[in-house]
Amino acid sequence: MSTVYDIRDRKGKGKIVAITAFDYPTAQWCAAAGVDIVLVGDSLGNVAHGLKDTTGVTMEMMELATRAVARGLAGADTPPLLVADMPLSGMAEPVKSAERLMDAGAAAVKVECHSAGMNALRAVHEANISVMAHVGLMPQDIERLGGYKLQGKTPVAAHGIIECARAAEREGAFSCVIEKVPRMLGAEITRAVAIPTIGIGAGPDCDGQILVLYDILGIFREFRPKFARRYAELGKEAVDAITRYGEDVQEGRFPGAGESY
Ligand code: KIV
Repeated sequence: MSTVYDIRDRKGKGKIVAITAFDYPTAQWCAAAGVDIVLVGDSLGNVAHGLKDTTGVTMEMMELATRAVARGLAGADTPPLLVADMPLSGMAEPVKSAERLMDAGAAAVKVECHSAGMNALRAVHEANISVMAHVGLMPQDIERLGGYKLQGKTPVAAHGIIECARAAEREGAFSCVIEKVPRMLGAEITRAVAIPTIGIGAGPDCDGQILVLYDILGIFREFRPKFARRYAELGKEAVDAITRYGEDVQEGRFPGAGESY
């Protein structure tokens, strides 16, 4: 089983593979593929619940998904580290929210380091709960950022993100997600902190990479970020399969003798 200590020790010793999962079967797929970290990301609000952004994700949605993912990972020979995102709605009572996510089966929580998030990160670490930081593009802060734009483009903005990652490390984060920044900045942050960095749209020099499972499998097809590589077209395959099922029902080919009692 991967622990936060294993992940922290991986800095500079080979790339860390992280991915999101939101339910029982997808968690089983991730474990079978041997990934290091499974994140129950609040991106589930967009890709699994059809919300316009992640700001409306509730603690109940995160707990339910975390419980399902924990069940999916439970049977694995070497289960990945299960990290659950603290949604914006959980920030008012960060320790209580982190405890709820841990109770649902997470081994650590991830916190976006916007102004409320940095306080939450500190409080969660002081409560002895392992915490992963998230800097750069922080989807929970989308209104202030004015959209899903590349972050850290100016020297001042880049400096601010480096300082944010350093502060998260000082406050006790065991690793740090860096989202949507120029690759040179991803590399600079990776050099600036002693904890492993996990990039998403932050270039190849981070200590690891994370992507949203529904993006790489082609399940969520409304929007594809430039940084997401598609490895399958399961959404299209699913529509084809459901169409064939419908045709079989209409033509009387389903159920057949073998599917009847
Ligand atoms: O919510 C999420 O899925 C995330 C990652 C993709 C880093 O925060």
